[in-house]
Amino acid sequence: MQIEVKRLAFGLGAQVTGFDPATQLTTQQVRRIREAWLEHLVLVFPRMEMNVAAHIAFSRQFGELELHPIPAARHPDYPEVMVVTNQPRADGTPSTTAETGRQWHSDGAFTLRPPTGSLLHCRAIPDVGGDTWFTNMYMAYDSLSPVMKELIAPLKVVNSLAKQNRTVDPKQNVRLEVPAVVQPLVRVHPETQGKALYLNETVTTHIEGMTTEESGSLLRFLFQHSVKPEFTFRHHWRPFDLIMWDNRCTMHLAPKDYASGEIRHMCRTTLVGEASGSLFTGD
Ligand code: SIN
Repeated sequence: MQIEVKRLAFGLGAQVTGFDPATQLTTQQVRRIREAWLEHLVLVFPRMEMNVAAHIAFSRQFGELELHPIPAARHPDYPEVMVVTNQPRADGTPSTTAETGRQWHSDGAFTLRPPTGSLLHCRAIPDVGGDTWFTNMYMAYDSLSPVMKELIAPLKVVNSLAKQNRTVDPKQNVRLEVPAVVQPLVRVHPETQGKALYLNETVTTHIEGMTTEESGSLLRFLFQHSVKPEFTFRHHWRPFDLIMWDNRCTMHLAPKDYASGEIRHMCRTTLVGEASGSLFTGD
């Protein structure tokens, strides 16, 4: 059996087949998949019929796994797994992750060690919709004018979970738990050395040192620019598809493009990342 990699879109994305998901990958297979990941940024592994423990074991072949910084999002039995679901919890209370990913973002950009990658496994998907959309942030950066590149080179964005005003636990405000961080607006990928725009509709509140007006205008432009159709790839899930993406050079979005009442249930592992950014000490 040989690993086969087939491009899926102009902007990014490739499908990987040619290995047995039930068997541990060889070193060579892991290397080949990692190379494909660095080249295509988003890899789709179709129909990986496996349980949560096997999803964890598969993910671990690509790096150490982190625990989600928000405990309420963790799987009750497997803390390495974040459950993204609209299914009510066992005690009947609503899921806290039903609206996860409704804006363009990369995972963990509100932390000082954003995960290198994420592996999302589809457990249940509505008949129609429930897609995930990805965009290539190298392309977004590369297609800017030289003048814009020079302007944004030294800039830093402030990322804070408080932007969503999200309360994880009724008694506990995330604002107190997860302090705002400052990240470079242009991030150099530590493995490819490529430059990518690094901003995040979900958590980026402003550009450090700019007035609200300046920052708002520039961020609006960069957000719109980053998701031009030609930079993107949209995946229509089938049960047990698994997608592994690189958070250092992509953003993704999970639109609410399905009927209320239909179940969408995904499990996500995240690979521990490199240190990036610093704590925000401004206003
Ligand atoms: C996420 O934002 O990590 C989850 C994306 C999805 O559910 O499609």
